Amino acid sequence: MSEVVTYNREGTVGVITVDYPPVNALGHAVRSGLLAALEQGLKDSEAKVLLLVCEGRTFIAGADIREFGKPIQEPSLPEVMNVFENSDKPVVAAIHGTALGGGLETALGCHYRIALSSAKVGLPEVKLGLLPGAGGTQRLPRLTGARKALEMITTGEFVGAPEALKLGIVDTVDEGDDIKSAGLAFANSIADEGKPVRRVRDLTDKIAADQGSDVFDEFRAQLEKKARGLFSPFKCVDAVEAAVTLPFDEGMKRERELFVQCMDSPQRGGLIHSFFAEREVSKVKGLAKDTPLRDVNSVGIIGAGTMGGGIAMNFANVGIPVTIVEVKQEALDKGFAIIRKNYENSAKKGRITTEQVEERMALISGSLSYDAFKDVDLVIEAVFENMAIKKEIFGQLDAVCKPGAILASNTSTLDIDEIASATKRPEDVVGMHFFSPANVMKLLENVRGSKTSDEVKATVMAVAKKIKKVGVLVGNCYGFVGNRMLHKRGAEAMALVNEGATPQQVDKVLTDLGYPMGQFAMSDLAGIDVGYRIRQERRNSGEDVPLSWMDKLAEQDRLGQKTMAGVYRYEEGSRKPIPDPAVDAIIADFRKEQGISPRDITDQEILERCMFVMINEGAKILEEGVADRALDIDVVWIFGYGFPAYRGGPMFWADQLGLDTILNAVEKYHDDIGGDQWKPSALLKRLVAEGKSFADL
Ligand code: 3HC
Repeated sequence: MSEVVTYNREGTVGVITVDYPPVNALGHAVRSGLLAALEQGLKDSEAKVLLLVCEGRTFIAGADIREFGKPIQEPSLPEVMNVFENSDKPVVAAIHGTALGGGLETALGCHYRIALSSAKVGLPEVKLGLLPGAGGTQRLPRLTGARKALEMITTGEFVGAPEALKLGIVDTVDEGDDIKSAGLAFANSIADEGKPVRRVRDLTDKIAADQGSDVFDEFRAQLEKKARGLFSPFKCVDAVEAAVTLPFDEGMKRERELFVQCMDSPQRGGLIHSFFAEREVSKVKGLAKDTPLRDVNSVGIIGAGTMGGGIAMNFANVGIPVTIVEVKQEALDKGFAIIRKNYENSAKKGRITTEQVEERMALISGSLSYDAFKDVDLVIEAVFENMAIKKEIFGQLDAVCKPGAILASNTSTLDIDEIASATKRPEDVVGMHFFSPANVMKLLENVRGSKTSDEVKATVMAVAKKIKKVGVLVGNCYGFVGNRMLHKRGAEAMALVNEGATPQQVDKVLTDLGYPMGQFAMSDLAGIDVGYRIRQERRNSGEDVPLSWMDKLAEQDRLGQKTMAGVYRYEEGSRKPIPDPAVDAIIADFRKEQGISPRDITDQEILERCMFVMINEGAKILEEGVADRALDIDVVWIFGYGFPAYRGGPMFWADQLGLDTILNAVEKYHDDIGGDQWKPSALLKRLVAEGKSFADL
């Protein structure tokens, strides 16, 4: 008898129960257990109907992702589903929680489906670089028609049970919360009514209506825009098309071929690394699981600018009241107007209701005095990057805030310990670095100062989860993980243009790699003045930061999208960067001024200099313990800077390229160009010497 799948009978219903925490994934033990339990049910002469139900928080949430890349152990899931579908006793699937991927495919292999109204179903394989490989692409269109199946399979989005009922994916929905009783009642009704087995494979009317449809070409054309660079969404379309054009068994064969192609694609490896890394970052090294958390039921924010406003929205969205403090009423009014406009835009797009707009706005209040922070649990300072101002603010917070309040800075580069030194409670001070636009970007880079208490570290990680961000805890250094690496890339990109590349050429290499935008389009979005101010601050503190053509842009008030001109120019109402001859002239003048004769620069050199300089820096970050694991860096880059998840993050990508390749190039640029940024990291050298990768750390 299987330990994870059991069989017992209740009246005339044979109950097959899966109990494989945490999410009842279809590992080998579950697959073989399902077959054995079905066999028992078929042999049990008292059982008229069979019911498949799961223990724990959810129905089967998919294939066991940890088994991917290893040799397949029989029975495979399509085989198991084949046996279920061919059962001559009706089999009912009872769904609670989430029936995802192989889980929904298992339910589709059954003859009837009941779901709790709170349940969700979906085929999210595409998010892992795959397609549904256990009949999902063949059975779902037979229930919903090709268009809806294509929508679900190419986006991987879930559908709630009431919608699934309308679409014909489930047969009935139960409003209660006891899936076993609901499933038994439904199975009994099937037995009582003598309903026959009903195999999805035999349903043909929906797909008959799709014959000759141009919906497949329509989806392919859409994906050319939406899924640029991705492999599996296109294969998903091919597979669903096969459901419409081929008989079931041949369609299943085609699905398998396409599934294997996706499985063999490097994108699958990158996306699955991203899936686990996103979950792994919440388990912080050295922080006990039972570290006590502080309550965060109210939040104060300093600054109603783009950042402060965006941060406030995150808290209001989850029902936490926020007070924003500004110096002047006009700044407060302007900030509130932008927040309202953002919410109203979301309502126009149907993402929230108009009532929600008002509910959320009502949770945000404004004040011109720090006294408003007397009782709040967490204050986040979001003023511009200037150490003296930040220290003054933290001194005031120390005087006003209650004991135990967490004092956080949204600084993107500055020293958290120095900020904390302005208070008498450095253990309560921490960095909470949000990414612009703060109400959209999923990363929250939480920065521990040398004195930050464990309680505060654990609480800010919990806050990240509460406001639906991916929190990564990193150490304190200039720029932390993300911006420290970004600034190396930015400096290299600027230097490449100094030497002869065009901004467009550099950006194209980066977008070809899969970034949504290049270095310079991003600078225009963030504001040219941001980088300029940081460079000036560093120059003022005595650092040797070379001059660049970008300083000239800032000095000429070409500040990026907000002034309709930066590295690119912009047209009214559009964010599309347009190359600008005026910038070419600024660059040419700068080269002349500096006595640089431009040379041709290859795309390969751009790729290596922009990316390898970052990876070398990433290795130094690991060496110094600023990031605990390579995957922390990967998550920062995927969720904060749009690094393509299908490449798994910069450090995972480096492992795939081979660290020896990276080190050779870093050493070459160190010889040719010099500079600290190209000094090979000791860790990188050690890993190469030991034949290891970042993943081995
Ligand atoms: N395989 C193995 N482990 C899985 C898993 C899976 N399919 N799904 C989740 N887990 C693990 C997570 O890694 C995590 O482990 P941890 O506690 O050790 O970190 C644990 O289960 C809980 O997961 P979450 O933290 O994500 O819990 P949530 O409650 O937030 O979310 C979920 C639950 C919605 C089920 C979410 O985990 C999820 O989306 N899982 C992936 C679902 C999926 O993609 N299924 C398709 C798989 S591919 C497939 O089925 C191929 C088939 O077509 C042949």
